Amino acid sequence: KQIQWFPGHMAKARREITERLKMIDVVFELVDARIPLSSRNPMIDDIVGNKPRLILLNKADMADPAITKQWEAYFEERNVRTVTVNSKSGQGLNRIPEIAKDLMKDKINKMIEKGVKPRAVRALILGIPNVGKSTLINRLANKKMAKTGDRPGITQRQQWIKVGKELELLDTPGILWPKFEDQTTGFRLAVTGAIKDEILDFGDVAFFAVQYLKEVYGDQLRERYKLEDLTAPPIEVFEEIGRKRGCLLKGGEIDYDKAAEIILRDIRSEKLGALSFERPSDF
Ligand code: G4P
Repeated sequence: KQIQWFPGHMAKARREITERLKMIDVVFELVDARIPLSSRNPMIDDIVGNKPRLILLNKADMADPAITKQWEAYFEERNVRTVTVNSKSGQGLNRIPEIAKDLMKDKINKMIEKGVKPRAVRALILGIPNVGKSTLINRLANKKMAKTGDRPGITQRQQWIKVGKELELLDTPGILWPKFEDQTTGFRLAVTGAIKDEILDFGDVAFFAVQYLKEVYGDQLRERYKLEDLTAPPIEVFEEIGRKRGCLLKGGEIDYDKAAEIILRDIRSEKLGALSFERPSDF
């Protein structure tokens, strides 16, 4: 699913989005509630400019509710509007039209002053691959739409989807590239499944996850794998998980790859509960 974003793709994606921004009033920037900053495109502010914007903290069902609250406060302090949503179930989506309208109120007031009848708010969804853009569009449209390829350059006819009376959405989202900046960002993207496992070594990703869980979600980790000693160094905790799960090679050596696979699968299928992989205090 993931594509290699080389500069040509990036430039093209950016051009296409810039072109479409001319048609819209408000941008819905979709991020993963578990990693709200790491799942943003690095150039989003530059690309969106001063169009009004709403950040949707998606996959909230998979994120730690207490940390999501902290993120809501983080963005509010920076005067950035957010809505916490679950695009799969539809939870939180009903607040979007009202907030979109509020974000456009200056423009609406100007129309009223000029004697123009205000029209529906027009919005475009932007986000990195896998963040839930198609799921969200389908939910808002209340029907199943074809999934767009995760690549810029597929030009299709654009259509407006009506969401109630006061909101219209472009039916194809803007797909932007993820951050490749530093290793931690890469690990966070990989743990949550935003980038494919082939991109980073999944053993490294799982080891990162164990280190983080040991620090932040010790109880969940201990409970899931029936661990005794969480004060041991992360590598020993990792090995203990492997042993507990029977990930052993001939001769009794730990099968690290197998253990890594189990750990990542468990995290992604929420066997350790709802977890967030970055916190405002990490920044
Ligand atoms: P994209 O267009 O941005 O690339 O993302 P897409 O909608 O394809 O969603 C990527 C994956 O994330 C899908 O899972 C989708 O079901 C899931 N998803 C989207 N929003 C939410 C949400 O709010 N909560 C949860 N829990 N999951 C969400 P998948 O495994 O690829 O497909 P499937 O198992 O749902 O069929």
